[in-house]
Amino acid sequence: MGKTGSILVVDDDPAICVVVGEALRRQGHKVKTVSSIRERSESLETFAPDVLITDVMLPDGDGLEDVAGILARSPDLHVIILSAQNTLNTAIRATEKGAFEYLPKPFDLNELTRAVSDALRMKEGEGAGLGEVHLPHDGLPLVGRSPAMQEVYRTVARVLSNDLSILVLGESGTGKELVAEAIHSLGQRRTKPFVAINMAAIPRELIESELFGYEKGAFTGAHVRTAGKFEQAQGGTLFLDEIGDMPMEAQTRLLRVLQSGEVTTVGGSKPVRVNVRIIAATNKDLPQLIEENRFRQDLYYRLNVVPISLPPLRERREDVMLLARHFLDQAAQEGLPRKSLSDEAAQLLMLYHWPGNVRELQNLMQRLAVLSRENVIAADILKNALPLDAVPADFTAPSEHLAEAVREWTKRQLGIGLSELHRNLHDDLLAVVEPVLLQETLTRVDGNQLRAAGLLGINRNTLRKKLTDYGLDPLQLRLND
Ligand SMILES: Nc1ncnc2c1ncn2[C@@H]1O[C@H](COP(=O)(O)OP(=O)(O)OP(=O)(O)O)[C@@H](O)[C@H]1O
Ligand SMILES: [Mg+2]
Repeated sequence: MGKTGSILVVDDDPAICVVVGEALRRQGHKVKTVSSIRERSESLETFAPDVLITDVMLPDGDGLEDVAGILARSPDLHVIILSAQNTLNTAIRATEKGAFEYLPKPFDLNELTRAVSDALRMKEGEGAGLGEVHLPHDGLPLVGRSPAMQEVYRTVARVLSNDLSILVLGESGTGKELVAEAIHSLGQRRTKPFVAINMAAIPRELIESELFGYEKGAFTGAHVRTAGKFEQAQGGTLFLDEIGDMPMEAQTRLLRVLQSGEVTTVGGSKPVRVNVRIIAATNKDLPQLIEENRFRQDLYYRLNVVPISLPPLRERREDVMLLARHFLDQAAQEGLPRKSLSDEAAQLLMLYHWPGNVRELQNLMQRLAVLSRENVIAADILKNALPLDAVPADFTAPSEHLAEAVREWTKRQLGIGLSELHRNLHDDLLAVVEPVLLQETLTRVDGNQLRAAGLLGINRNTLRKKLTDYGLDPLQLRLND
């Protein structure tokens, strides 16, 4: 872990203050969070932070305005700008004002904590250039900045300081258990146990004794009184995985425990009070199971106080490359050779439909880290590692199929601004996606270059230059400019 310091976080969104604050505190930093420019000025005096993380649009003004002044007064301070105005413009203003780093929202928590570590190391004078340093992910587990993941982060932030029951929903391998662990380890119960039980992995007749424990002699083989998962999780969090696979009788008993807050062991008679937070997860359609009388409706209501949905990976393809790189980093940290992906390999990853979701991607990256002899993983190595039907038969470099997929994806990105695109995509993919985005944007605004440049967050000259660089004919794109 890197150097620690004091960090002032300024954002008018309480969810962001909580998530960022917790993440930084967890890494040992001293953190203060405030929500306006006025409070920021006060805290700069009284709290005297090493690093200032500030939002731009604040209720009492433009958070960038005074940054140059602040830096003039405190030359040792490092300023990190967060902004939802994901335009190149903001990035440029931030740089001009002397900010150390600029992160467009939605941002990746790992990237933010890394920027903070970088800033603190710069203070020590051992500064390496930004982007060159490659710090480990410091144990912040959730990677991804798709809108769907941002929604997950926001919900996670809201439940850290309470004990509401949570139901995590999502296909297999989407990260349900990881989310449960994150809620526990960032939340107020983090010093107490996190205990998981998987209903699908335990013989049905053993579920109750596993959950609630059993007395000596309760059944053949019960030699000593054994505490169940509820008691083991005392004060902490109990993760009820694959809850949809729980037998009806056990559901009835579980509901009773949740209502009374007391557990009685199998074969026992003296109830024990338990204090656990419940996080349940399933990839099943519980309302459907209720219809079929295979799940208790009252238990469903009890568990589903705060639902968190993890979408399948194929519906958040913008996270694929981030995750792939994260897993390759992970493999390198575990002592395997450091690998990266070739352009074509990266394109192939974006096309694949990931039936096994994040877990499949993780396994694949680990396998490639071991198998590939080259440092740069080529598309044909990847092709061999993927299921046969994963690869379009005609896949070479940008195929028609790919162009179509990229166009579809790009259409959904319209209006995000080029700087956001640069942050979201593997560098090698930009060359494929950027021209498509330029074209799609121009088409959308009937060839009006000024409006297109505005949407993209760049100026008209930059747009012209990019069109020329990509060999796109502005005249052909210009319908009524
Ligand atoms: N957003 C993410 N960032 C980083 N790693 C992730 C992310 N989502 C999932 N993973 C990793 O992918 C693997 C699968 O995640 P997890 O076990 O949490 O999935 P799950 O939804 O519980 O799957 P199942 O339903 O099969 O139990 C884990 O190793 C987890 O660490
Ligand atoms: Mg799981």
